[in-house]
Amino acid sequence: MSSSIVRTTTAELYDAHVMKNYARAPLTLVRGRGAQVWDDAGKEYLDFTSGIAVSALGHCHPHWVASVQRQAGELIHTSNLFRNPNQGELARRLVQRAGPGRVFFCNSGAEANETLLKLARLHGMKKAGGEEGRCIKVIGAKHAFHGRTFGGMSATPQDKIQKGFRPLVPGFAFGELNNLKSFEELIDDDTAAIFIETVQGEGGIHPATTEFLLGLRELCTRHNLLLLLDEVQCGIGRTGAFFAFEHSGVRPDAIGMAKGLGGGFPIGAVWVGETSAELFQPGMHGTTFGGTPLACAAALAVLDVLEREQLLDKVRDNSVPWIADLRALASEYPDKLCGVRGLGYLIGLQFTSDVAPRLAALREAGLLAVAAGGNVIRLLPPLTATPDELKQSVEILRQVLAA
Ligand SMILES: Cc1ncc(COP(=O)(O)O)c(C=O)c1O
Repeated sequence: MSSSIVRTTTAELYDAHVMKNYARAPLTLVRGRGAQVWDDAGKEYLDFTSGIAVSALGHCHPHWVASVQRQAGELIHTSNLFRNPNQGELARRLVQRAGPGRVFFCNSGAEANETLLKLARLHGMKKAGGEEGRCIKVIGAKHAFHGRTFGGMSATPQDKIQKGFRPLVPGFAFGELNNLKSFEELIDDDTAAIFIETVQGEGGIHPATTEFLLGLRELCTRHNLLLLLDEVQCGIGRTGAFFAFEHSGVRPDAIGMAKGLGGGFPIGAVWVGETSAELFQPGMHGTTFGGTPLACAAALAVLDVLEREQLLDKVRDNSVPWIADLRALASEYPDKLCGVRGLGYLIGLQFTSDVAPRLAALREAGLLAVAAGGNVIRLLPPLTATPDELKQSVEILRQVLAA
């Protein structure tokens, strides 16, 4: 009797068994170190996706790995029926960054944003003298992206995200980013909050201007609305400040974060300023996995490295010549690359045509990047990326643009 071993490739396993909800690159990644990843054929890539702004310290940073390994051997999960030291310490450090208030832990950006939207409902109910369901309006921005849950989708006014899932959560209205008047016109007695990304990520890297953010703050204070900032993609150092809103000096009422916070381990968090932090009372909101000892150990390791390696300063300093090089490249190839936007290590390259073939060419040449809305390629290096690695990205882009 002959025995034959049938070897199934990863691609075949995906084709047969994994749900088809992603348009995936034909690449199987098996190993990473810093800003580099390797595929299953041994080819090396410069990873400027960082898992879509997640792997803030690059791949397998030794301090992060040691912290996670140590915690995994000590205590992984307890639920929120009990306290754990890491959650308390992580909350303390986030409050230190964001200001007086309290932190709720969850597992993803969408979940963080759901919490912000539920906070808006509680604020609206208080504003309406305790009447539920009246003051529920949330004003967001056109081209926003806030996640794939029903609340997140409803706050994301894009047909490609909402199609097939309507009816959505009621109560959303949308103004133009950086057009204060368009927001002001939407405010009425039934409005509870304004909710925007400080830098629109998926929409194509569009930062909210300082003037706009300060104007929203003033509107929120005047009309008793919460200013809710989605820092899921742009927070945790990505722009060279811990939170992107710090560049403007605005003070939000609540902040949603996730992605870079865990450096690759799933964790989300919401900070709520002290005037609204007591709106959530026991039993009103929760999640089984929120703030486990292991997830918080991963996030604490990210914060340790951000501080010890002075990554915020490095992102700010290193990004200046990098962005200048990218702009120079745009002036060399204006018919193909017509704009460079963003801050720090959150950069959008505006192309004149569909970016799918360009992303494939970059991949072929050894650079991994991410598409965003409106013919944009996002470059999201790990916060640990060195000037040499940034330069290397420019060289690969030049090579692809010249071809
Ligand atoms: C600004 C923003 N908010 C929310 C989300 C949703 O986060 P998650 O995919 O972790 O649910 C994303 C994801 O890309 C995002 O960029």
